[in-house]
Amino acid sequence: MADADQMFERVKDADVAFLGTEPIPAAPYYDPDYYELERKAVFMRSWIEIGHVCELPEPGSFIRREIEFAKASLLIVRSKDGVIRAFHNVCTHRGTQLVEEAQGKRSKFSCPYHMWTFGTDGALLSAPDFASFGIDKKDCALKQVTADVCAGLIFINFAPDPPPLRDWLQGLAEQLETLPVAQATTFSEYVYDIDANWKLTYDNFQENYHLRFIHSRSGEAAFSAENPFAYPAAFGFHGPHRTQTLYSNPDPAVKPFAALGFGRGAVAAAKRNLVSGAHGRSYFALFPNFFILGTAVQHFSHVVYPVSASKSRGVIRLYWVGDDASASERFGREYAMATARDIHAEDRSVIAAGQRGLESGALTHIHFQTQEALCRHLFVSVDKAVADYRAETGQ
Ligand code: FES
Ligand SMILES: [Fe+2]
Repeated sequence: MADADQMFERVKDADVAFLGTEPIPAAPYYDPDYYELERKAVFMRSWIEIGHVCELPEPGSFIRREIEFAKASLLIVRSKDGVIRAFHNVCTHRGTQLVEEAQGKRSKFSCPYHMWTFGTDGALLSAPDFASFGIDKKDCALKQVTADVCAGLIFINFAPDPPPLRDWLQGLAEQLETLPVAQATTFSEYVYDIDANWKLTYDNFQENYHLRFIHSRSGEAAFSAENPFAYPAAFGFHGPHRTQTLYSNPDPAVKPFAALGFGRGAVAAAKRNLVSGAHGRSYFALFPNFFILGTAVQHFSHVVYPVSASKSRGVIRLYWVGDDASASERFGREYAMATARDIHAEDRSVIAAGQRGLESGALTHIHFQTQEALCRHLFVSVDKAVADYRAETGQ
């Protein structure tokens, strides 16, 4: 039994009243015209998470990322000077994509078509018979996209002159830097495609209202008599970003095998001094489409990329620090990933069913209650960005 000072208190209506209480229009969750505005107003102007520095361990290491919302293929490279840069994966001669591999290491990038060759800093190094073009090599560098790193996470921004990433993060950068992800050296990854709008998909992971019904077995340890829905203990709003403090059930009913699996993970985290951080119960949602949990044992991140108005791709990662030192540590890691997949599998069919329902046009509006305030905050933030964009461009 929890003592009085640990009693759960749910977030109050008044705490989120500033977001409004009116129903939310349904069309932005399926309408292609709204998606097109959102693509330009939000995704082409925001810092978007696309990877982690541990994927680029050495100068010349690169990853290729296909970014559907931008119709772009990007080459993210650790240049010889150690700086991580992002380029369009597009040869500046006649546009051929330079790299087909998803990742690798190269000292330079040669176009297969006519052998224009670029350095890891994007500069054109050589091109056969170049003198006859009558142009300057320095005007032929790969086209760059702004990239920056916070807490080991790599972000890109397609805007021509974006605000610095740290300013964009509105004070959350320092908190993110205390998370295990900032020291991560590896991760397990799970990529999924879903027939659902990116907001509908993302929202599923920022409300606990569904846990009791969709995760009645897998989420059992989260529920308690004082908090039967496992609602969070607090919400925080930081410009378009948001945080929550997850509820910690004081008396969880953990199945023996789960205790074993997560126990192994906890031991591994303790050995690396990662447990009991200040943000062990924090959830950070970075606008527009990324979140990460602060928990060291299952250090879970999730990014939902829009593909169209009604399709998205999600990338789920569990970050880890250091190699597996033993079979036991490996087991802890695999157990955490298997659990994440199982729980996610429970979510997917209701998300896609929601999309089908909304796309039927049967509803003009949807409803968010106080405990779904983070979903409302996402919509309010997106809709504001869209309204600002329309005012600015007259579209
Ligand atoms: S298109 Fe790349 S060298 Fe010609
Ligand atoms: Fe869920």
